[in-house]
Amino acid sequence: MRALILREEAGAVSAAIESVDEALLPGGDVVIDVDYSTLNYKDGMILKGLGRLVRQYPHVPGVDFSGRIASSGHPDFNPGDAVILTGWRVGEMRWGGFADKARVKGEWLVPVPTGMTRRQSMALGTAGLTAMLAIMTLEEHGLEPSAGPVLVTGAAGGVGSVATVLLAQAGYQVACSTGRQETHDYLRSLGAGEIIDRKELEEASARPLETERWAACIDNVGGSTLARVLGQMKYRGGVAAVGMTGGNMMTASVLPFLLRGVRLLGIDSVMIPVERRRAAWRRLADEMPTTLLDGMTTEITLGEVVGAAEAILAGQVKGRIVIDVRR
Ligand SMILES: NC(=O)c1ccc[n+]([C@@H]2O[C@H](COP(=O)([O-])OP(=O)(O)OC[C@H]3O[C@@H](n4cnc5c(N)ncnc54)[C@H](OP(=O)(O)O)[C@@H]3O)[C@@H](O)[C@H]2O)c1
Repeated sequence: MRALILREEAGAVSAAIESVDEALLPGGDVVIDVDYSTLNYKDGMILKGLGRLVRQYPHVPGVDFSGRIASSGHPDFNPGDAVILTGWRVGEMRWGGFADKARVKGEWLVPVPTGMTRRQSMALGTAGLTAMLAIMTLEEHGLEPSAGPVLVTGAAGGVGSVATVLLAQAGYQVACSTGRQETHDYLRSLGAGEIIDRKELEEASARPLETERWAACIDNVGGSTLARVLGQMKYRGGVAAVGMTGGNMMTASVLPFLLRGVRLLGIDSVMIPVERRRAAWRRLADEMPTTLLDGMTTEITLGEVVGAAEAILAGQVKGRIVIDVRR
């Protein structure tokens, strides 16, 4: 098989495309011929050896992949079936999708939903799944379009772009926070009604409770931005905490929780049970317009992954990156 292999020497991680014996794949009851993978922020961290996400080298990264079943010992899957894998710590603790073959547990797989191609499933990837999980969670806590504007932070990235489209398509007023002026037209094309400068939310407010602005928030930034947003939420508004591109620590007042009943809702896409994954993927197939998805997607080859990892860590990637692992 052909794979992007990470090796570690004296604390430095390097990547190269190599030919690898398939027998080295980790244990599992299903082998997949992988055709597409994708680049998430976490893949960027893994490719650069950050965050101690990978403990054992040599390693094949890639937290997401799609492809066809090559062989299966799992009753739900047969050779030729089109499947998606995201999360379960594949690409971190186990070899992942930056290779043309993968072996995993069949119970982790989701069938590619009707109406979606394998390439589109990776244009969505963990980022798209997470955006949908955040919306499902907010809705379960009472969010509906009449509640008022929904804020998306880190909006021009993968999770933010998909969240913006899904919310706008569902009839929500969407406010997008971004640090990149050059993405304003792009965000408007996805459905943003209002654009907010990232800096406005990064700075701490002198007051723990500001004017009530947002019915909900999908937060990809964390840190001081999340702390600031909590104080701007409407009464009983929900904040879906998704990411930490702006930091994983925050100092925040508890007053928004006590006086406005604000809900802080954690979103995890990695270990989420398979039934909820399947429901989220079915909704993505129904609700994500393919023209907008195709428009926000850039395709790269396996050889271009390392350069793209640097760009995603520098916050320079707009939308989503799909990797054709066969090229
Ligand atoms: N909880 C989960 O299961 C889950 C799943 C997927 C992703 N995540 C996390 O969610 C976050 C977003 O993931 P992604 O795949 O969408 O990443 P991405 O494509 O790199 O997008 C992240 C966006 O964050 C903004 N950003 C970058 N650096 C920043 C900084 N220093 N300060 C403030 N904003 C900054 C940028 O948006 P603008 O240019 O628009 O400002 C960037 O486009 C990451 O932290 C990722 O690890 C979590």
